[in-house]
Amino acid sequence: MVAVVKVAKAATPTETNDIKPAADRYARGWHCLGLAADYRDGKPHSMNMFGTRVVVFQGQDGALHALNAWCPHMGADLGLGRIEGNTVVCRFHEWGFGTDGGCKHIPYAKHIPPKARVKAWPTLEENKLLFVWHDAEGGAPDPGLAVPRLPQVFSDQWSEWSMLHWKIDNNCRELVDNLADLAHFGPVHGSSSVAYFANIFEGPKATQVMVGTNERLGGARNHLTTVATYFGPACLLCSMSGEADGMPIESILFVSHVPINQTSFDLRYGVLVKKIPGLSEEQNQAVIKNYVDLAVKAFSEDVEIWHNKVRVDMPLLCDGDGPIYQLRQWYGQFYKDVDDVPVELGKRRVIEIDHGIGTKPPLQHVFGL
Ligand code: FES
Ligand SMILES: [Fe+2]
Repeated sequence: MVAVVKVAKAATPTETNDIKPAADRYARGWHCLGLAADYRDGKPHSMNMFGTRVVVFQGQDGALHALNAWCPHMGADLGLGRIEGNTVVCRFHEWGFGTDGGCKHIPYAKHIPPKARVKAWPTLEENKLLFVWHDAEGGAPDPGLAVPRLPQVFSDQWSEWSMLHWKIDNNCRELVDNLADLAHFGPVHGSSSVAYFANIFEGPKATQVMVGTNERLGGARNHLTTVATYFGPACLLCSMSGEADGMPIESILFVSHVPINQTSFDLRYGVLVKKIPGLSEEQNQAVIKNYVDLAVKAFSEDVEIWHNKVRVDMPLLCDGDGPIYQLRQWYGQFYKDVDDVPVELGKRRVIEIDHGIGTKPPLQHVFGL
């Protein structure tokens, strides 16, 4: 299922002393463009991202490729063109560009200008999703920033991805803040109490562990435990145990974003649900649909806020707030040159807020990774 949901009202950021210019670069890491299957329809797809436009196409080799979309000849969008073999052919004058970004063919010229080339972006297919690699320094993908493989995606005991897509008018850092934002669970998500909250920062991973109650996703007993980990700057996996229709439900949520520019980003939200043994496929599909609807509704509560807030560099915090500044310090590493990332960020740091849970949950990243 793919749905595009638009939020009606967009924020108009106002200038205040708290708002500094947004970062002048984009984060280093893998960024998800949604379901890989959506790009396998024989057409080039162009999208705005990282302050430019990128075209994605499936070559004859079967792989998905991403190139800068603005044609270096006279500027047309290669996404308007067509795919021929392993090239995408510009609609304007039919220059053809290969998977490495080089121009391979000009129908009316004897010589191809050496500068006839566009940037080729590293791509990756994992968990049936497509990713592009961004690095302001132009470095190759860092294995330490890999997105883990989820066996659940390939198991018939689990649902297929339900994937939703929003465009948010804000800098993407405001979304990532959510990982450390303890105080929003009550007002936004209806969590009547959070017994335990912790953040673990460790190299390129940042995790939130939360044990509490939630009337919307926790079911009759209201009990909800979540563990969520960012793997790099833009891919969050969350393991959640809750209830729907009176039955315990295990699910995996995937929250990912791609900056369009410094004031907007594409937000994608994927849900996987474990089927309940003993139920028919039809019954399971009904439970899954019900649960996904609830999960999307809960997530939409955040979406409306992100879409209607300003970027604030120095939030005014109080006791009871989560470690927003530590989270931002962790997130800042992806905006620095690799050689400038502070060594201390590689060390494991745990920040706990314990409201009397008794037995603590394991302090580990999602799926123990
Ligand atoms: S603008 Fe693309 S071929 Fe001319
Ligand atoms: Fe939230």
